[in-house]
Amino acid sequence: MEKLSLRLREFTAQAHRQAEGADFVKKLFRGQFTDSEYIQYLWALREVYVEMEKWMEKQSQHPALSLVFFPELFRTQSLNQDLQAWAGTTEPEVPNHLQAEVDNYIHRLKELAENRPELIVAHAYVRYLGDLSGGEMLGRVLQARFGDRALNFYRYDFDDFEAKKNLYRERLDQIGEKWPDWIEEICQEAERAFDLNGALFQALSQGERRPSESAPLADGSNKLKSPMAPRPERA
Ligand code: HEM
Repeated sequence: MEKLSLRLREFTAQAHRQAEGADFVKKLFRGQFTDSEYIQYLWALREVYVEMEKWMEKQSQHPALSLVFFPELFRTQSLNQDLQAWAGTTEPEVPNHLQAEVDNYIHRLKELAENRPELIVAHAYVRYLGDLSGGEMLGRVLQARFGDRALNFYRYDFDDFEAKKNLYRERLDQIGEKWPDWIEEICQEAERAFDLNGALFQALSQGERRPSESAPLADGSNKLKSPMAPRPERA
């Protein structure tokens, strides 16, 4: 039987190529973004990691999730530090269309946590192994360009990324060995996680839509909606 780590890599190879080719990702690697774009990116990631890490902590005793419970990979804190430094706040204003994609991503995580917690493994795989791979490369590019700015998202309390990725893959393989029936579903969920990230990149590359592009109000008035959504208070 094929190992889960190999199966995941093969199954998501196409989705990975698509992620690498996303306009916003290319923009990040070229360092050609405005502060506002980078702040929106940090915010979107922070929202996703808060949700993912909340469930991982709650489910840390879950037989499958416990195998990939690595709090040293958690990114909520580093994202909040970067947001504070780049935006002067951890709750910046963001455009409605980005809020909608973030809500969609978070909704899926919540749905899984409540019904199929083992499939959160797929989301953790896409984000954390991505952070230790392409994310590490991006960190080096940004360090060279913005060395004097906060880049905590790319920093960890350990140095050996290869060892961490290998350990992560070993744990994925153990999950596949113990629960072979989940392999296909975990792969499909990983593809979905790539899609959800793709939708975020798409929304991020749309920037702040001009008011003329937002929908008219339901009352038919021609007063235009603000493209910026007020930030709801976090519970
Ligand atoms: C231009 C952007 C990107 C580059 C250059 C890049 C590069 C890479 C490289 C070189 C690896 C192989 C690492 C290894 O086997 O040790 C890798 C793996 C990975 N990347 Fe990316 N990546 C990019 C974007 C992304 C994005 C946006 C995501 C997710 C949202 C992502 C998710 C992953 C995952 C999950 C793996 C692990 C694959 C596996 O071995 O199972 N990558 N990436």
